[in-house]
Amino acid sequence: MGLRDDVAKVLIPEETLQARVAELGRAINGMYDDADRPLLVCVLKGAFMFLADLTRHLEMRHEVDFMEVSSYGAGTESSGVVRILLDLEQNIKGRHVLIVEDIIDAGYTLDYVTRNLRTRRPTSLRICSLLSKPSRREIDVPVDLVGFEVPDEFVVGYGLDYAEEYRNLPFIGVLKEEVYQAAE
Ligand code: IMP
Ligand code: MG
Repeated sequence: MGLRDDVAKVLIPEETLQARVAELGRAINGMYDDADRPLLVCVLKGAFMFLADLTRHLEMRHEVDFMEVSSYGAGTESSGVVRILLDLEQNIKGRHVLIVEDIIDAGYTLDYVTRNLRTRRPTSLRICSLLSKPSRREIDVPVDLVGFEVPDEFVVGYGLDYAEEYRNLPFIGVLKEEVYQAAE
């Protein structure tokens, strides 16, 4: 029905995703303890599902906050221009901050976000990205934790959208050629 008919192939099935998210959670458990009280900064909208699953594996005391940035219009290519649409509620000065992102593609978004957050003087600033497309990188951004490397294809699902749809798919997939073409 509808959405799923638009999927050409599943790149990362739900079980594989969930197993890796649990592993990332364990890695983060090893990075911080209660006294650190890290602040997880979810980059909206794409990382909302990842954050929700990831935090359920965390054992240390922590907080979450949200930031929304835009670098894309409705299409599939980054413009390179990043804007803050929603800023954090928390003051991060002196805090341990972990950025939770859906995907690092060219790198513009995370480069902008890390440079912006660094000016606010957090005690530490780390990045956890569910996906990475290394072949597309234009700016080098040091990512501490990566869930999966994906090929140079536009992916959707598990929070990631195409023109604001498909975020609810529980797997990472690629859409049929005609779906992307129809919007052009
Ligand atoms: P970058 O600035 O090129 O690294 O792009 C990163 C942002 O673009 C991510 O936060 C995503 O929101 C979006 N993005 C990049 N590649 C994809 C994709 O394959 N599917 C969905 N969104 C993507
Ligand atoms: Mg994003």
